[in-house]
Amino acid sequence: MTASSSALSRRTFIAASAVSGVATVAGPSLLGAESAVAEPATGEFSTRVSLTVNGTRRTVSVDNRTSLLDLLREHFRLTGTKKGCDAGACGACTVVVDGRRVNGCLTLAVRLEGAEVITIEGLASGEDGPLHPLQQAFIDEDAFQCGFCTPGQIMSGVACIREGHARSPEEIREWMSGNICRCGCYVKIVRAVQQAANGK
Ligand code: FES
Ligand code: FES
Repeated sequence: MTASSSALSRRTFIAASAVSGVATVAGPSLLGAESAVAEPATGEFSTRVSLTVNGTRRTVSVDNRTSLLDLLREHFRLTGTKKGCDAGACGACTVVVDGRRVNGCLTLAVRLEGAEVITIEGLASGEDGPLHPLQQAFIDEDAFQCGFCTPGQIMSGVACIREGHARSPEEIREWMSGNICRCGCYVKIVRAVQQAANGK
């Protein structure tokens, strides 16, 4: 592989990761334990829930213990949202619910009746539409390495900007502190959030 084709491959790889969270790799400590594929739940320990995910209304019967993260990944096959710690410590599972960022691993799916959920897959304007400005900024700033934390970073960054908490690098660091990057790309992540916040 030539140097230029190698660079091109990496650029293509990171672009895909910023858009949908695909093809990412991470070591065991970040990946954590992956749940088994969930079957539609029935019986006294399940609840029917209707919610809107990325603009599409979905109704599903889930085990009452199912987290939003598992609902997205195992029921809806929206695997862009990542499972890192599964315990609220890393931010890899960040999605936006009713305009607020939440940890999908700490949110029970059955509590989301009528909720509007946005995941990394719903951020761009359609499959062939333009990227969200923060997705583009992550690509422009080369703001990730393995990409595993990236969907959560981007969803958190989008909310951070919307909340008005991206007026300085210090403020961005503070309000994005729940999102951990094992690769240590923080300098570039902050630059990307700044770029999107400033509309550059
Ligand atoms: Fe780490 Fe949810 S998977 S905070
Ligand atoms: Fe690898 Fe953040 S964990 S880019």
